[in-house]
Amino acid sequence: MIFYFSGTGNSQAVAEIIAAEFNDTAVSIFKRDPSEFDTANEKMIGFVFPCFSYRAPKEMTAFAAGIDPHDAYTFAITTFSNKTGNTLEHLGEAVRLDCGYGLKMPDNMPVFARDVETPETAAVKLRNAKERLYGTIIPGLKAGFRGIDTDKGDGQENNSPMFRDFFPVEKASLDTERYYAEDTCIGCGLCEANCPVDAIELVDGKPVWKEKWCAGCMACINKCPVEAIQYGEYSKPRMRYVFKGFDL
Ligand SMILES: Cc1cc2nc3c(=O)[nH]c(=O)nc-3n(C[C@H](O)[C@H](O)[C@H](O)COP(=O)(O)O)c2cc1C
Repeated sequence: MIFYFSGTGNSQAVAEIIAAEFNDTAVSIFKRDPSEFDTANEKMIGFVFPCFSYRAPKEMTAFAAGIDPHDAYTFAITTFSNKTGNTLEHLGEAVRLDCGYGLKMPDNMPVFARDVETPETAAVKLRNAKERLYGTIIPGLKAGFRGIDTDKGDGQENNSPMFRDFFPVEKASLDTERYYAEDTCIGCGLCEANCPVDAIELVDGKPVWKEKWCAGCMACINKCPVEAIQYGEYSKPRMRYVFKGFDL
């Protein structure tokens, strides 16, 4: 069984491809509880999720901590846009892991002046990711690889001070106070429907972020069909990203 957290589709695609390779099932952890899953007879258990500020999303860490892997071969794959730091080691403190891979994919975070993804840089990352997924990760899982294989970066084992203000690792959540919808919002309600932690509510046809901290998954801002959602000034010129396939 392969459990995934995914706001914009990178991790979901990876989980589903691996599940198909192993005749297994990929399950989103959103709004699910680990007690719903009987893992006693699983041969393989995987966790696939985006790297958030050099950690797994807190929802994934809590979910994984509630899964008993018994004798299964266990793996974690973190999709990431830049560096993973100690993301995989950190998840390994919550659940027994036999192996961990990082898979570089396009950045889904148009709310922070860090990576500036363009359609061209995203296409290169997707091409390389496909090669690594099929050429290294899937063969590695088939061979029962043990260990950690990722680009941790240099000195990025912990949250950087710059990032900490914006995305505090102890909360591993995103401060929602800077979110708003522009007048171009058509009130379709997709942002409310897509929010995995029910942090958004449509009030008079416009989204309101009713929780101070959300999962930070970026589904609302990236999946808005008219790009009406902004995060302060940061997001205005930035590309929105949703996984649509490896070969763009
Ligand atoms: C709140 C947040 C924090 C992130 N932190 C990191 C990070 O520390 N390092 C990194 O390389 N990518 C980081 N990213 C990029 C995502 O990990 C990457 O785009 C991921 O593949 C998105 O996965 P998804 O499409 O399954 O949601 C971050 C993204 C978000 C939304």
